[in-house]
Amino acid sequence: MQGPEDDAGLAGKVALISGGGAAGDGIGNGRAAAILLARAGAKVLVADRDLKLAERTVEMITAEGGTAAAHGGDVTSEADCKTLVEATLDRWGRLDFLDNNVGIGSRG
Ligand SMILES: NC(=O)c1ccc[n+]([C@@H]2O[C@H](COP(=O)([O-])OP(=O)(O)OC[C@H]3O[C@@H](n4cnc5c(N)ncnc54)[C@H](O)[C@@H]3O)[C@@H](O)[C@H]2O)c1
Repeated sequence: MQGPEDDAGLAGKVALISGGGAAGDGIGNGRAAAILLARAGAKVLVADRDLKLAERTVEMITAEGGTAAAHGGDVTSEADCKTLVEATLDRWGRLDFLDNNVGIGSRG
């Protein structure tokens, strides 16, 4: 774990990461962002349409002493997006960052 001197001002901030899961024990963009933000001292709401994948990310974070919670939700649903924001605010009372990792890998 990094020390507070390495927190880049992120200690105590709260982040919401969509697409924060990844297959199995793999590392996708969202899982990587969630782990690194937690290492810097941020609290992380890990959201994924597959709750089990978000829960695996949270396990990885808590295993190294970070703070995170998992939540299911499909970011193509406006209602789910609202729920994710509300869940973050209910849990930690603030929301500083939104990191959207859901998308498609096409060009043009
Ligand atoms: N991996 C790369 O090298 C790379 C490079 C450049 C850009 N990207 C882009 O980054 C994004 C993420 O890629 P990745 O490789 O980390 O993917 P990933 O499959 O490892 O993780 C994406 C996660 O998003 C979740 N998800 C998918 N649709 C969702 C939805 N509608 N609502 C909530 N969660 C949903 C999936 O369940 C999965 O857990 C994509 O847009 C991809 O095109 C990836």
